[in-house]
Amino acid sequence: MSAPVLTIDGPSGVGKGTVARVIAQQQNWHLLDSGAIYRAFALAVDSRAIDITDEDALEKIAQNLELTFKTHEDSELVSVYLDGQDVSKKLRTEQTGEMASKIASIGVVRAALLKRQQDFAVSPGLVADGRDMGTVVFKDAKFKVYLTASSEERANRRLKQLQAQGHEGIISQILAEVETRDKRDSSREHSPLKPAENALIIDTTNLSLDEVIAQVSELVKA
Ligand code: DC
Repeated sequence: MSAPVLTIDGPSGVGKGTVARVIAQQQNWHLLDSGAIYRAFALAVDSRAIDITDEDALEKIAQNLELTFKTHEDSELVSVYLDGQDVSKKLRTEQTGEMASKIASIGVVRAALLKRQQDFAVSPGLVADGRDMGTVVFKDAKFKVYLTASSEERANRRLKQLQAQGHEGIISQILAEVETRDKRDSSREHSPLKPAENALIIDTTNLSLDEVIAQVSELVKA
């Protein structure tokens, strides 16, 4: 029997990553941050300075992407190595997110990265977060969640996160970035962001992180 999979999809800044990490720890399951794969792919394309309309070149890069995730025993951090180099910090910038969103709309790229994501579904189980985990990559997943929140709330969360890391941010600018990325991710032709038919939809606008985790945890344990 295949390993149980919990998919967590939703727009940018909704907190999918944090929820996914906590549930994976609780269940002792593997974790797939599919956004990190698209972000690393975008960095690989950027560093090779290739034309993003050259689909053959994109496909080749996607198929040969040398990407490894290293989980730290003593912290919640996951380091990401691309071509042997630690790109964890660069991966999380807004600029990389924007590049990833653009390149993720290309069909051949999504097809070439599909199996790499599906290979994460091994025993004892997997928590996978992204945009199309429940609709495409793990269509037969046992548990599916779709997290949402108003764009204002998500921009606020992003600002607080930046401030906690000692950075500054302008709320109107962050809001515009969040809305542009959501629009692109939900209106694209290939695997657009949308809830899977059988997903539990949780509007987190007025919920604390603990409340969201409790609801998702209940679903998996039920
Ligand atoms: O979740 P994230 O912000 O790290 O994702 C970065 C971009 O990658 C996102 O804006 C769209 C793309 N992405 C995708 O198309 N499909 C996924 N499953 C995950 C991310």
